[in-house]
Amino acid sequence: MPEKVPFLDLKAHHAPLRAEFDQAIGEVIDSGAFAGGPFVAQFENEFAAFCGSRHAIGVGNGTDALWLALLACGIGPGDEVITVPNTFMATAEAITYSGASPVFVDVDQHTYTMDPALLEKARTPRTKAVIPVHLFGQVADMDPILSFGRKHGLFVIEDAAQAHGAEYKGRKAGSLGDAGCFSFYPGKNLGAFGEAGAVVTNDDKLQEKIRILRDHGQVRKYYHSMVGWNCRMDAIQAAVLRIKLRHLEQANHRRRVHASQYDRLFQGLEEVKSPFEAAYGRHVYHIYPIRVRERNEIMRLLQEKGIGCGIHYPVPIHLQEAYRGLGYGRGAFPVSEQTCAEFISLPMFPELTQTQVKLVVDSVGESLTAGALG
Ligand SMILES: Cc1ncc(COP(=O)(O)O)c(C=O)c1O
Repeated sequence: MPEKVPFLDLKAHHAPLRAEFDQAIGEVIDSGAFAGGPFVAQFENEFAAFCGSRHAIGVGNGTDALWLALLACGIGPGDEVITVPNTFMATAEAITYSGASPVFVDVDQHTYTMDPALLEKARTPRTKAVIPVHLFGQVADMDPILSFGRKHGLFVIEDAAQAHGAEYKGRKAGSLGDAGCFSFYPGKNLGAFGEAGAVVTNDDKLQEKIRILRDHGQVRKYYHSMVGWNCRMDAIQAAVLRIKLRHLEQANHRRRVHASQYDRLFQGLEEVKSPFEAAYGRHVYHIYPIRVRERNEIMRLLQEKGIGCGIHYPVPIHLQEAYRGLGYGRGAFPVSEQTCAEFISLPMFPELTQTQVKLVVDSVGESLTAGALG
């Protein structure tokens, strides 16, 4: 039986654009330029303009984007990079792959993004960069993070993988730091038909280095100025992304309309904490997370009623088995730990209907009542 309210409905998003996709993919096939090439260059120009950045460099995925940005900043073994523990594993993985060590600071109780007040204490003489994560589609409080970076000569690399089109004081996510890293994984606000990512930057030297690194360190074909890797973007992904980029603003607008309907309806349920939009920016609701004390029963009931839901993320990075070696214990980052235990991500995609949003909220309400009675 199909879900009554799916967590995400990519088919509904793609159906009206199908003829455009067919034509664009056909053009790539006819051109024979599949890896990099003119379709990627066109997308890079359009995405840079969208972000208000001088350059965009298309790469294989968002993890590559973070990793290459770190390498291009010269970060490597012996260095430390400060980030947050309530993020997707890739943020920390990219730091580890650069050879540096991740150092965590906790997040703000309301925005769930990096708490700038904690940065100074986390800094050591080995700190070389900071990676704020614009989690769920909301930009971190960048001004104090950028002034901390400037004060100590650190690079600030934005993890904007979940924040395409989000804004901070009128400027787009990704365009605020030394580099901004995006994922175009299919479920993202701007998603490809497979894996893709990009780095945006205003720094001419950084962009040049990232372009060389993503293509085996080649300055021109078969002449390698450094050891790089294969992190090129596929032309088919670029062709698809060019079409979807034209619809991104409208899609983000619809997400915001759904978020305000959710917010309004949840006002009557005091057990539910709905997300907070900071006055400094524009949230694009990649995820709509609510917080509740006891989520298991609610999630079970939602699933039983055919309503998709998820948890982003159940275990903060400092408590993941893979990072046990860093030596952080339970209690090290209380806000991240508490939110990871309380979050439920509800259905959120542009094509949701008002009736579906109401059904989700009513179902959460019913499960709370059932829990209270039980
Ligand atoms: C916050 C964050 N950072 C990085 C990534 C990595 O992106 P990708 O999956 O394209 O490698 C993701 C994607 O899931 C993400 O959500």
